[in-house]
Amino acid sequence: MTLFYGHNITHVSMNDSTIESLREALKHSPDNRPLRLLLAETLLELNRFEEAELEYITLLNSTNDTKVKVGLANLYFKKGSYSACNVILEEVIEGGTRDGTTFILYARGLLKENEISKAIDAYQKALAIDPGYVDEELDSQLRVRGAREELMDGDEEIDNRFLQKPTINFSDVGGMESVKKEIELKIIRPLLHPDLYKAYGKKAGGGILLYGPPGCGKTYLAKATAGQVNAEFISVDLNDILDMWVGNSEKNLHEIFELARKHTPCVLFIDEIDALGASRSDMKQSSGRHLINQFLQEMDGINSDNEGVLILGATNTPWNLDPAFRRPGRFDRIIFVPPPDEMGRESILRLKLQKKPIESVDYSTIAKKTENYSGADIDAIIDMAIEEKLESSFLDGIPKPINTRDLLNAAKRHKPTTQEWFMTARNFALFANDSGLYDDILTYMQIKK
Ligand SMILES: Nc1ncnc2c1ncn2[C@@H]1O[C@H](COP(=O)(O)OP(=O)(O)OP(=O)(O)O)[C@@H](O)[C@H]1O
Ligand SMILES: [Mg+2]
Repeated sequence: MTLFYGHNITHVSMNDSTIESLREALKHSPDNRPLRLLLAETLLELNRFEEAELEYITLLNSTNDTKVKVGLANLYFKKGSYSACNVILEEVIEGGTRDGTTFILYARGLLKENEISKAIDAYQKALAIDPGYVDEELDSQLRVRGAREELMDGDEEIDNRFLQKPTINFSDVGGMESVKKEIELKIIRPLLHPDLYKAYGKKAGGGILLYGPPGCGKTYLAKATAGQVNAEFISVDLNDILDMWVGNSEKNLHEIFELARKHTPCVLFIDEIDALGASRSDMKQSSGRHLINQFLQEMDGINSDNEGVLILGATNTPWNLDPAFRRPGRFDRIIFVPPPDEMGRESILRLKLQKKPIESVDYSTIAKKTENYSGADIDAIIDMAIEEKLESSFLDGIPKPINTRDLLNAAKRHKPTTQEWFMTARNFALFANDSGLYDDILTYMQIKK
């Protein structure tokens, strides 16, 4: 008898007489919950489901203990009542549990019910609580089934998610004339006249990498390219492809390239290529290396044909990108997207104020006084001016248009955000300027080599 009050109870091989003794003890103290829980757990261990269920339910009449609930869920799982198991665990999880094994059990239950994406989610939560919960079986099952499910009905989902309907074109982009021209030459024409290019032995393919300070229109221009070409346009942010599961990022990347190959002629825009940068600690690990290699292979079209797929990339930090990306056929043209010059700023101002309530605005003066401001900075200035006007309009109920002074005042309060980038870029351009790669930066900064 005394055995059952010891701490080593779970290590004792359990049998019917164990159960009997536990029941006997409970008779003397029926309200002893830990003892009843022990009985329930022991019964469960012995696969005596009905008796165990009775004990768990008796306990639940007097307690709300999550340990009891999870025990009962475990029981339901063992006897194959997966939906009952999941219902209980849902409740426990909603209550805010931080217990990884609960999430693991939930993932298993969901898997049985074929709720794959929810199962993946639950499993990832368990791993987020403690990476030690890694579970080989769950891991491989979920990955295989997750992939299969995606193949079955995910195709359309991927299409809808990444295939972009153009909403803007080049006429919405202020300035940037030379960049637009390059995109025209390298992307739009080859897509329009593939045969002509072929006749000269040139493949319509390859890539352009846009780089430059933040907010100067890389993403915006790429999206406008979609409206400019009469071709499919696939847009992804590389960060959306990265997945915490080893091997998943590669799979995602491959699927995106396959999507592009299926929809030729097409422009594949990959934003925030920085995510592959060597400076990121996760890219230094071998899994990061893997992804980089996979990316290079996809670009080369090693196992597949990239004919008719044009790749447009954008980054703030081209110097962190593995030089292998710049080989011929990959990002063989890299284009600097500087802050807009005075004329560019003027045309951005005009574009952005087109549909706003304004009174005579002196565009050229504002453009002169906003040197180094990015397109995003100009957006910000306009926003600030509008907010201010709104506030004073609320006071007397009369809407007031924006004028030159409002915009200049806002410019005084919002400093340009491009300068920090140039401090870093300058060093790379001066000291790591491989075959004049960053000469454009030096020219822009008026630094003589
Ligand atoms: N040349 C431009 N013409 C019109 N709008 C612009 C232009 N440049 C920037 N903008 C405006 O600024 C916003 C931010 O630009 P965008 O996101 O393209 O910058 P980015 O260069 O991609 O920056 P990041 O490096 O931070 O990703 C755009 O949504 C757009 O409204
Ligand atoms: Mg961007």
